[in-house]
Amino acid sequence: MNALFLAIVLSFETGSTLGATWSYDDIPSWATNYPACAGDQQSPINIVSDDAVVDADLGNFKHALFDGPPQSMLVKNTGYTLQVDLTNGYIINDSSLLPGQFKAAQFHFHWAAPNAAGSEHLFNGNQYWGELHIVHYNTKYPDLGTAASEPDGLAVLGFFMADDYPQDNTAVERIIQPLVDDQVNYYKENATYSATFSMETFLPNNISVYYRYQGSLTNPPCYESVVWTVFSKPIRISRRQANIFETMVFENARGANGTVPINNNYRPVQPLNYRTVTRSSYCSGTGSFSMPTFHFTALCATVVGLITVR
Ligand SMILES: *[C@@H]1O[C@H](CO)[C@@H](O)[C@H](O)[C@H]1NC(C)=O
Ligand SMILES: *[C@@H]1O[C@H](CO)[C@@H](O)[C@H](O)[C@H]1NC(C)=O
Ligand SMILES: *[C@@H]1O[C@H](CO)[C@@H](O)[C@H](O)[C@H]1NC(C)=O
Ligand SMILES: *[C@@H]1O[C@H](CO)[C@@H](O)[C@H](O)[C@H]1NC(C)=O
Ligand SMILES: [Zn+2]
Repeated sequence: MNALFLAIVLSFETGSTLGATWSYDDIPSWATNYPACAGDQQSPINIVSDDAVVDADLGNFKHALFDGPPQSMLVKNTGYTLQVDLTNGYIINDSSLLPGQFKAAQFHFHWAAPNAAGSEHLFNGNQYWGELHIVHYNTKYPDLGTAASEPDGLAVLGFFMADDYPQDNTAVERIIQPLVDDQVNYYKENATYSATFSMETFLPNNISVYYRYQGSLTNPPCYESVVWTVFSKPIRISRRQANIFETMVFENARGANGTVPINNNYRPVQPLNYRTVTRSSYCSGTGSFSMPTFHFTALCATVVGLITVR
């Protein structure tokens, strides 16, 4: 029961077994079977940096938070994306970062097609090559499937991806190695990484600037259960690596006639409506938020007019 729920809700792999299916080819019809998709707090959105309100209470995500490798990692083709399920992922327990204690459960990707941009969020109207989502659930709930429909159930960290890196990104190469090895290219295939690795390995160097808003899953059932964190600095990969996502992940099962690459697995931006997007404060130097207020003030001199120093 829980397993089924998980399948439909979170591996974004609805479907076949449960009746209502959905497709990126027919996004306008999602709300027919999944009414939440027509809600007024939907994701993704266009993040307009000038409209974001600086929130001095938002803390600094540190790379060390992401250091611990999960116990095991299962990479799979869901028919909609390439997804990595984490067993015993890291936990973030810091109220200045997230409203509750959240555990990392999986990450997955969104992209477009060769020569097109496919991030879900836009930044000042700009669409990046792609986007990585790390999905976490609130540990007050027993698991991801249960948390997914709760208003305070999920936290997703979103990272833009740019395909402009002059060489391969070695951390991302490790993630996509099972595609290179022809292990998970087709629907329902999966593989376990022989060696686990931490999320820290593939995050951008600078994660101090991020945007925060309340939103939803970006595909059916579109539950409005997500506190979103979108970082401004992208993960950079090579064109070769981008091409692997664009051309080597298929929506059909192995052995079927022909191959259909998963393309354009992103949802267009949704209206912001009455919501506010906030932004982390940031300061030159490192670790400013752990410093005493006095130093904090000095380091943040350039933005001090915008924030409340406590
Ligand atoms: C989470 O943080 C709170 C507040 O600092 C602390 O009281 C609590 O023990 C922490 N929980 C865990 C599981 O670390
Ligand atoms: C992984 O693939 C195997 C072989 O097809 C399948 O039996 C198993 O259920 C899959 N596991 C998951 C977690 O998807
Ligand atoms: C592939 O196509 C051929 C000819 O149309 C058909 O006979 C065969 O059953 C198909 N195979 C699969 C796996 O769909
Ligand atoms: C991160 O980027 C911001 C904005 O460009 C900058 O102000 C800050 O100094 C950078 N932080 C680090 C640790 O490099
Ligand atoms: Zn996603």
